[in-house]
Amino acid sequence: MKTRITELFGIQHPIIQGGMHYVGLAELAAAVSNAGGLGIITGLTQRTPENLAKEIARCKEMTDKPFGVNLTFLPTVNAPDYPGFVRVIVESGVKVVETAGNNPSAVLPHLKEAGIKVIHKCTSVRHALKAQSIGCDAVSVDGFECGGHPGEDDVPNMILLPRAADELEIPFVASGGQADGRSLVASLSMGAEGMNMGTRFIATKEAPVHEKVKQAIVAASELDTRLVMRPLRNTERVLTNDAVERLLEKEKRLGDKIKFEDIIDEVAGVYPRIMQEGDMDAGAWSCGMVAGLIHDIPTCQELIDRIMQQADDIISKRLMGMLGR
Ligand SMILES: Cc1cc2nc3c(=O)[nH]c(=O)nc-3n(C[C@H](O)[C@H](O)[C@H](O)COP(=O)(O)O)c2cc1C
Repeated sequence: MKTRITELFGIQHPIIQGGMHYVGLAELAAAVSNAGGLGIITGLTQRTPENLAKEIARCKEMTDKPFGVNLTFLPTVNAPDYPGFVRVIVESGVKVVETAGNNPSAVLPHLKEAGIKVIHKCTSVRHALKAQSIGCDAVSVDGFECGGHPGEDDVPNMILLPRAADELEIPFVASGGQADGRSLVASLSMGAEGMNMGTRFIATKEAPVHEKVKQAIVAASELDTRLVMRPLRNTERVLTNDAVERLLEKEKRLGDKIKFEDIIDEVAGVYPRIMQEGDMDAGAWSCGMVAGLIHDIPTCQELIDRIMQQADDIISKRLMGMLGR
């Protein structure tokens, strides 16, 4: 399939694996890229620019296809060494960066100067337009159903994608709730040029996370996610567990008076314990409603081939058939 996104990134299929903390390591990024999509290493999981350089080198040993690096701008006081991460990305010859979390204008000139394509992930049309105006090459539009941070507007993709199509000139991919060929065709029909998947890629053979995480996604239904940290205006969609229910109880009890310190036990330092140790009640971890559509743990190649085959069947048989052609 050829779209403005496959052309922009030099990939075979319009499918991107979004950055995911403690999931987007070299193994997953390489597997997605080798299967014809765009794999993405999550920069901040590496903690230091030196570690990121090593992770990029590891990924290059596993694939000669294009892959990207995610840079997430966090609302923290002790900011990570973003200039150092950008230097390593430029020096290592990475060709694509996925930015997220906040306006990427501080790093954009350095990335563009090095010829790097930038796709910014955002949750609203106004942020997508801002990304376009500062020179991003593409955007990833994250609907309310997405795993991770859906923003505070709560607009699902059925509305958000056509709205983005009406306003944007740069190409965009649909993100949030994407799982299969049906998602891809629906997103294309709403104006997107491809799709970005998070949760679906965790339940793959190559995702370097504990088996219990993959099984939890397969076992979950679309009713099993919760929104946490809304009172802090840092809303995150996570899979429910004991820690999440405890967190929600605190939010209810403390109301507007809640501070980050009140929920630190449920959210800080959780990712390594969940993703690497499989300690499934350690705290809140991002997961999309799309878990309800995930029933198996294929390889990335099997998953992407299946998506493309299903998309082809829907377009050429089901839809063309409806037109009587
Ligand atoms: C476990 C997990 C961790 C994530 N970590 C990040 C992150 O560090 N940075 C980021 O930009 N997005 C992160 N995301 C969001 C994904 O890149 C993607 O936008 C989102 O998962 C899409 O929704 P879906 O899960 O419905 O496919 C994360 C998502 C999940 C499920």
